Amino acid sequence: MAPTVLVVGSGGREHALAHVLQRSASAPRVISAPGNAGTPNNRKVSVTDVDAVVALAEAEGADLVVVGPEAPLVRGLADRLRARGIPVLGPDAAAAELEGSKAFAKAVMDEAGVPTARWGRFTEADAAVAFARTLEAGAVVKADGLAAGKGVVVAEDMAEAEAAIRDILGGAHGEAGRVLVVEERLVGEELSVIALCDGHRIAVLAPSQDHKRVGEGDTGPNTGGMGAYSPAPRGTPQLMAEVHDSCLMPVVEVLRRRGAPFSGVLYAGLMLTADGPRVLEYNVRFGDPETQVILPRLAEDAYELFMACARGALPDRPVAYSPRSALTVVMASEGYPASPRLGDAITGLDDAAALPDVHVFHAGTTLDGDVVRTSGGRVLAVTGLGDDLAAAAKAAYSGVERIAWPGAHYRRDIGFRALKG
Ligand code: AMP
Ligand code: GLY
Repeated sequence: MAPTVLVVGSGGREHALAHVLQRSASAPRVISAPGNAGTPNNRKVSVTDVDAVVALAEAEGADLVVVGPEAPLVRGLADRLRARGIPVLGPDAAAAELEGSKAFAKAVMDEAGVPTARWGRFTEADAAVAFARTLEAGAVVKADGLAAGKGVVVAEDMAEAEAAIRDILGGAHGEAGRVLVVEERLVGEELSVIALCDGHRIAVLAPSQDHKRVGEGDTGPNTGGMGAYSPAPRGTPQLMAEVHDSCLMPVVEVLRRRGAPFSGVLYAGLMLTADGPRVLEYNVRFGDPETQVILPRLAEDAYELFMACARGALPDRPVAYSPRSALTVVMASEGYPASPRLGDAITGLDDAAALPDVHVFHAGTTLDGDVVRTSGGRVLAVTGLGDDLAAAAKAAYSGVERIAWPGAHYRRDIGFRALKG
């Protein structure tokens, strides 16, 4: 009988996960919880309602649960599933603290000797401000806990740093900002390195680059990510080996020593500085939109690979990748990221999906009868594949150009760093 996989989440990342799982030779039945207008077999459930997700996994007889977002992991979803003998791709709550608490992550990095920005942990504003003044390159102010990607301020000057410190400790992000991390500002290009980890071993996936700012040329406010591409030329084999040895493995070892082994997806957000790679943060899940370029290139059976990881038996060999390139363009609704307008009817989806080498991954979409409507800020991620990055970009944008709704916007320069040379 075909296995059942429950994919938890509702973004473009989860649609891409469902897509590669469905390509598996085991032909799994993929259930999406709660999913979107593009995902298969949607079940209405809130991802942070751990009891409800566990009950759904049991009711559906899930052979594997793949968890997209971090919040349910920090709340102990993986612990609960493992306690019931259900294999899960995602760490237990104790290891998920790597994303759930920035102070925890920094302390683990220090213990593991991972290169990262100089930092301090504060609960008093005056002490935090005094520390920020000692950082010659400028300060970055971070709420300790999960703040839906809004808890980080890269300050342009000391006045902005001080305002952010008083704002966050003053309760702007509630509980998440009771503790503050202040760290030195780093400069360089960012790179996402995502690995599968089975508690002992890691299998590093292809490097990718995200585009966090809403505007072309990396301008305007931060977003969840407006586009990505893979492979990223900055992720050379030498760099990837260095990241494996100095940014990923030492953390896995420290967590195992602390009695919180990491089993799941470990994502290092790196700054490539003039002095080498520095870890900005860890996430305990796949990136969005990085997943939409990494997974379509995977030349492995995704179900077998994820299952091996969940069972603590990752193969002792590199993960196989297609030599082709992938590039994804996020299409966002009017007003994103500040105040996205929802409910607009989307046209052209079938035309775009029918193009060769184009995948349309849904994110903030919902089905209203036969009409697909926008239901979130990031609406779609249109991925193109090609023999090189330029060809992948051409495919992605040919898909994007066929899709429309009132106020849709996207960046026209995804991949510019790699394409300019
Ligand atoms: P984080 O959630 O910690 O990754 O921060 C979100 C974004 O803030 C990162 O992707 C970077 O663009 C930026 N950032 C975080 N830490 C630093 C730092 N120390 N120096 C410069 N930029 C940073
Ligand atoms: N693309 C950034 C993230 O998933 O956190």
